[in-house]
Amino acid sequence: MNLLAIETSCDETAAAVVAETGDAARPWHIRSSVVASQTAIHREWGGVVPELASRQHVRDICGVVEAALDSAGATRSDVGAVAVTQGPGLVGSLLVGVAFAKTFAWAQRIPVVPVHHLAGHIESLTLAHGELPMPAAVLVVSGGHTSLYLVPEPGVYRLIGRTRDDAAGEAYDKVAKLLGLGYPGGPVIDRLARQGRDDRFRFPTTRLTHADRNDPRATGSDVLPAAVARRTDFSFSGLKTAVLRLVQERTASRSGETLPTEDVADICASFQRVVVDTLLERTFEAAQWLGARSIGIAGGVSANSRLRADAEARGKRAGLPVFVPPIALSTDNAAMIGAAGLRRYRSGIVASWDLNAEASLPLS
Ligand code: KG4
Ligand code: ZN
Repeated sequence: MNLLAIETSCDETAAAVVAETGDAARPWHIRSSVVASQTAIHREWGGVVPELASRQHVRDICGVVEAALDSAGATRSDVGAVAVTQGPGLVGSLLVGVAFAKTFAWAQRIPVVPVHHLAGHIESLTLAHGELPMPAAVLVVSGGHTSLYLVPEPGVYRLIGRTRDDAAGEAYDKVAKLLGLGYPGGPVIDRLARQGRDDRFRFPTTRLTHADRNDPRATGSDVLPAAVARRTDFSFSGLKTAVLRLVQERTASRSGETLPTEDVADICASFQRVVVDTLLERTFEAAQWLGARSIGIAGGVSANSRLRADAEARGKRAGLPVFVPPIALSTDNAAMIGAAGLRRYRSGIVASWDLNAEASLPLS
């Protein structure tokens, strides 16, 4: 069956046609994947402006879906089901995709499958590499989320760690903004960090061991040993503030003049080292505590070159295979929503016509 997938949770309007292969080990095949990015619109404002994002989705959605069908060599009647990101994300943006998906499905008399955005990121790994050796420890690291999941069997996602404040991608975006590097921050910091010294500035690593006052139950306490259950959470807001202080001090000592390129590159490299080390340390520790047979890293930040290289090196040392999607499937796209959609469809999940967007949809 061919499934049409729609993703509009943030600032990318995306559509894809994903087909089943009939091979249980490598279940899906991408026939087309089209992404219309709104980055150029939001860059001017230093971040995503929700109202502008929804309006642009409305403009782009029909053309993006037509392009996805065309490049798959498919027509509307070749599509057997529509999958759509129901949440989490910006509600106005999500609504455009959900309304479009329901309308398309209604007109074609086919079912709609609601998909959680993070299930999409997790399934981008299966889409690219086939079913991972299970149980798998999967880190989803993006602009909106930094969450660690245990995947004990295909399609089951159990949250075992999450950020208590900023997501890692958000930290990249905020640090880039305060360094005057523009939006989005991840790719530019990644590039500049390659020319910098990562040991010049000592930024703090936050290691949480205490309960979250807003949500005292330890994340993953049902699967992790009690002694370590609180150690899988992340926090990046202190790191961001430390970078801000350093930049303010150094700028003041230069009477307000901007920092030399070399300093900026060293700050990027030093910041990135802390983020990557923190993400990987916790993921590999959790994998060990849980007896995981593989590690997956997905989401926009998994495009990061140092994260990829260091994850691969740690995996070799630990004797654990590490899976990362190709760059086109790391950042937001609809092919991953198609993969998660086909998985859900085959487990019998379809939406009713009153399906609505949910900005804070929980995964499990
Ligand atoms: O998954 P994604 O496209 O959207 C969300 O679901 O949030 O992730 C976007 C995030 C942004 O914060 C962006 O700065 C970050 O991914 N990102 C990167 C890189 N490429 C994108 N972060 C670090 N290094 C990169 N190369
Ligand atoms: Zn995403």
